[in-house]
Amino acid sequence: MSELTGKVALVTGASGGIGSATARLMHERGARLVLSDLQDEGPAELMRELGDDARWCRCDVAQEADNAAMVQCALDSFGRIDIAVLNAGIEGRAGLIGETSLENFDRVMAVNVRGVFAGLSKVMPAMRQSGGGSIVILSSTAGRKGTPTFAPYVTSKHAVMGMMKCAALEGAAQNIRVNTVNPGPIDTRMMAAIEGDFSPDDPRAAHEAFVQSIPMRRYGTADEVARMIAFLASDEASYCTGNYYGVDGGQTS
Ligand SMILES: NC(=O)c1ccc[n+]([C@@H]2O[C@H](COP(=O)([O-])OP(=O)(O)OC[C@H]3O[C@@H](n4cnc5c(N)ncnc54)[C@H](O)[C@@H]3O)[C@@H](O)[C@H]2O)c1
Repeated sequence: MSELTGKVALVTGASGGIGSATARLMHERGARLVLSDLQDEGPAELMRELGDDARWCRCDVAQEADNAAMVQCALDSFGRIDIAVLNAGIEGRAGLIGETSLENFDRVMAVNVRGVFAGLSKVMPAMRQSGGGSIVILSSTAGRKGTPTFAPYVTSKHAVMGMMKCAALEGAAQNIRVNTVNPGPIDTRMMAAIEGDFSPDDPRAAHEAFVQSIPMRRYGTADEVARMIAFLASDEASYCTGNYYGVDGGQTS
């Protein structure tokens, strides 16, 4: 089991399925947390569970000032940042190229790409100050292969793979590790929204089609993704950097 005692972890998109599962698991393994999302306050039940070991900070990841404030909150609260999980993301709308709007493309890129770059820009200098750390970026199987009608999301998840590689090379000398986790379909709000968008009259049919594309014939759980994130965040993964780690039931094999 990856041990996180004494570490300070920042998680963006922490109200969501994978973000909240990651926060809970990291807390269970001993980390203190700075959590953020678009809401002014964190989910009441989650914040109650985490108690004094967690702080909440509203952060729209696409906004530079919000990222700066989130990092400052971590430094003011706990004095350092050892782990950053850049998890916030949106799926956008399905649509063929030529039919989907440029506004849809821009919105997805603003959160999924600009948001990760802005996070790295504020987190990496703070980690340099405190002797290093581990950054985990949420990419996707969509960062490794295409899907018709999903070009903006797929583009965004490929883009963060390139960003991760550059950040890993830049951070290596200062003991900053940077990796992506690439989940396949995971049972959260996001997949439910994608199913409804692909097949508005019968989301269950889209669900079945996705399941049939997965060798293990089921969606993953947010906890299964959180365990990979927690491993990469921990010292157990001390020689892992500049790489991507699938949690996808064999979908990219
Ligand atoms: N669920 C899946 O099947 C799946 C598969 C592969 C990758 N991912 C990726 O994992 C990450 C988490 O997804 P999830 O399944 O938990 O989805 P989710 O929708 O449950 O959670 C995403 C969270 O990001 C937040 N968010 C959206 N825009 C934001 C912004 N501008 N600033 C800050 N927060 C913002 C949302 O409010 C939400 O709480 C995403 O990056 C997603 O692309 C998910």
